[in-house]
Parts: sequence; structure tokens; C-alpha cells
Amino acid sequence: MKILITGAGGMLGSQISKACHESGAEVYPFKKAELDVTDFSTLKHVLHFLKPTLVINCAAYTQVDRAEECRKEAFAINSLGPRYLACLCREIHAALMHLSTDYVFNGESRLPYPVYASPDPINVYGLSKLYGEMAIRETLDRFFIVRTSWLFGPGGKNFVDTVLKLASEKNRLEIANDQTGCPTYTVDLAQGLMKLAQTGIFGTYHLTNTGQTTWYGLALEIKKIMNLAIPIDPCTTAEFPRPAPRPAYSVLDPFPLQAVTGREMPGWQDALQRYLREHKKN
Ligand SMILES: NC(=O)c1ccc[n+]([C@@H]2O[C@H](COP(=O)([O-])OP(=O)(O)OC[C@H]3O[C@@H](n4cnc5c(N)ncnc54)[C@H](OP(=O)(O)O)[C@@H]3O)[C@@H](O)[C@H]2O)c1
Repeated sequence: MKILITGAGGMLGSQISKACHESGAEVYPFKKAELDVTDFSTLKHVLHFLKPTLVINCAAYTQVDRAEECRKEAFAINSLGPRYLACLCREIHAALMHLSTDYVFNGESRLPYPVYASPDPINVYGLSKLYGEMAIRETLDRFFIVRTSWLFGPGGKNFVDTVLKLASEKNRLEIANDQTGCPTYTVDLAQGLMKLAQTGIFGTYHLTNTGQTTWYGLALEIKKIMNLAIPIDPCTTAEFPRPAPRPAYSVLDPFPLQAVTGREMPGWQDALQRYLREHKKN
């Protein structure tokens, strides 16, 4: 497989680049400064020159709160970028693997969202990601749209690292206990994406670690694994208002991922333990 990766400098992009190299594929990872997904003419030049068989789009505008104000930028990167990529993949007969988010859902469910549930984003980031999904479905047949959630891993800003940093700076933490989702390790996600890409069974998928928790539950697990002494109290989202509303519940039902890949994703606690053991010292 000849694989071109966009957003290769990001938290997931760096892991998927590594996983692609390890799989023996011919890999072309591009960071933002090297390939901007909003620059159609450069994209066209690079894709037509390299002619990859698979493009993995990890480029994204991921600042959920800032997106409320920087709407134009969020839509350019999360919606127009995927449209450009889909259009060019069609021209060069490449497949496109695109990452999307649990934030396309409104969070009103209390059961995991199946792949066929109707999206209804409640913030600009989620809307821009949904429009990116739509652009791909309108343009291309050979695509994987993969929704994931609550990422953590090396080389990116994430909740796990933030808790560790705050624990070293503060005397007490208060963490929201009224948002439920599934934390997902970029290393496990990258392996799952590679497995899925090899199937050639195109479509929309949900790919996360398994299980569910709240941000507070995740913080307690970090505290337990790292033997942190800091008291952590639950609070509500309303106590610390943010510019972008968050879905209260965004667990993703993985069906039909396991049937297609023959592989179940590890639980989030197991994934968290591996991340902390491998990358953080206590
Ligand atoms: N993080 C999460 O919790 C989460 C949850 C659900 C879904 N996702 C999705 O998973 C994917 C990967 O997320 P991530 O956490 O790895 O995000 P990330 O660390 O923010 O990585 C995104 C990368 O895209 C780059 N980028 C931004 N604008 C670009 C442009 N115009 N052209 C090319 N590259 C550009 C960024 O560069 P700069 O940093 O230099 O701007 C960054 O390296 C995204 O599609 C995201 O929506 C993430």
C-alpha cells in the first residue's frame, strides 16, 4: 500500500505514521507546514504526483472552544479540506480514510450511538466535522469515515496530560462528572485504523477503546495508576462554563467494526495504564 498522511504532526497523525511504517507500507507523512489541506492547488499537485492508494486525513481544527469564534477556519479545515481530498482521491482512484468525532451527536442518548444514528451536533466543531463527513459521502465511494472519541497519547494536548500537569501545580482538582464518553489511546486507534484499511470494506465506523466513563472517572483512574495524593472532587459542567457546549453522553457503539476487522479494541483502563506506564514516570 502507498499511503499519504495529512496532519502527520498531530497526536493521532504521528501515531498513524508510525503504525503505517511498521506495517511495511510506503508512507508519505505530511505535517501542516508541508501540506495544507485547505490549499487545493498544492494538494492536487502532490496527490497527482505521488498517486497514493490510500490517503489518511488526520488534519483537523481541534480547538473545540475556539471554533465557536473561529468558525471560518474550523469549516475550512474540517469541511472544505475533506471535500478537496475526496475530490482528488476520486481523480487518482485512491481510497480516503477520514477521522471524525463523537461530537457529531447531541449527547441526549443514554445508550451508545450506533453508526446509523442521526447526527445533531451542538457546537461549531461538531458541525464542521459533520459537514466534512457529508462532503466525503457526496463525492467518493471508496472511503472510511471513522468516528472516535476522547483521544490521549504521546505528542499532543490531551486530558490525561492536563490532569498530571494540574496535579503537580494545584492542591485540589474539580472535574466534570456529567459528561460520559470513552477515552481512546492513539496507539490502539492507529492499529485499529490500519486493520480496517486492510479490509477494503468501506463505510462509516466507530472506533474507540471499549467501556465508558466520565472525565471525573478518568481523572480518578489516572490518580490510582499514578499514585497521586491530590484530592479530586466531582463537579458539573455548568460550574465551569466553556464557550462550546459538550454532549453529555457520546459513547459510540462499535458495530460493525469487530465483525469487519475480527478484532475487539482493548478497554480504556487497560489502554490508560499502558500509556501511563510507557510514557509517564511516577
Ligand atoms: N483529540 C480528540 O479527543 C479527538 C476526539 C474525537 C475525534 N478526533 C479527531 O481525530 C483526528 C485527529 O485528532 P488529533 O487529536 O490528533 O488532533 P491534533 O493533535 O490537533 O492534530 C491535528 C493536526 O492537523 C494539523 N492541521 C491543522 N490545520 C491543518 C491544515 N489546514 N492542513 C494540514 N494540517 C492541518 C494540526 O497542525 P497544527 O497543530 O500545527 O495546527 C495538527 O498537527 C481529528 O480529525 C479530530 O477531529 C479527535
